[in-house]
Amino acid sequence: RLSGPIPEDRFDDVIAHLRWSFFADEPLNRSVALCERGQPHRELEEHARATLRDSLSEMVLDTTTNQVVGVALNGVLLPGDLDEAQSKLSDMDDAKFRRIFGLLYSVNKRLDLFDAYHVDRIFECRILSVDNRYRGRGLARQLLERSIETAKAAGFQLVKEDATGLFSQRAADSMGFQTVHELPYEEYKDEAGRIVFPIEAPHKSLKIMVKELR
Ligand code: ACO
Repeated sequence: RLSGPIPEDRFDDVIAHLRWSFFADEPLNRSVALCERGQPHRELEEHARATLRDSLSEMVLDTTTNQVVGVALNGVLLPGDLDEAQSKLSDMDDAKFRRIFGLLYSVNKRLDLFDAYHVDRIFECRILSVDNRYRGRGLARQLLERSIETAKAAGFQLVKEDATGLFSQRAADSMGFQTVHELPYEEYKDEAGRIVFPIEAPHKSLKIMVKELR
């Protein structure tokens, strides 16, 4: 059962779901072994909670157990947010987290979607996650579809997703998103020429994907 916006009394349940799903399985997290499955991660949890507080997120509940089995955590991105996030990132202890978010922030800053699409706020799907026992049944697509409805109702003109793996890319493709930038992971190397994110197949690239709502 789809439900949103996610109320504050379910925030802890969402975090518990993410510890067993997104924290360990998202392709970038997985490639650097950011988290052990089921374990907390301070910075990721703060990122998720800050996004939940924007009250634009959706969840899927198992109708029998009422457990959270999937989420789309959506937040508002405003001009200047990326600069602020980048400066906060430099103070963070976790080098793996800095590596992942350093890439996402710099790619997005270079794209400057505010200017490219003439908008002053962007509806950002930041975390798309489905419990591995429920994957492959269209739940991510449904979460995205509901998120687009929410964005429309709130008057946004642009929805964006940093789709880090093939399945989130496919889900966004089928919801009519367009890829505005693609970075093959094998081309992203450090100064020593080593691939920074040795991503497992079938995932290949980071895609910045958008859907215009006007
Ligand atoms: N093998 C092949 N294709 C697959 C698989 C699979 N194992 N799983 C999903 N797909 C395809 C589906 O066929 C579908 O494509 P189609 O529209 O062309 O038919 C598409 O991926 C979406 O399928 P859903 O069933 O809607 O996706 P699901 O509910 O399984 O959730 C998700 C996808 C959220 C990516 C899930 O795999 C997951 O939680 N992964 C770990 C966390 C993660 O990587 N999240 C996305 C990162 S990007 C971001 O968060 C913004």
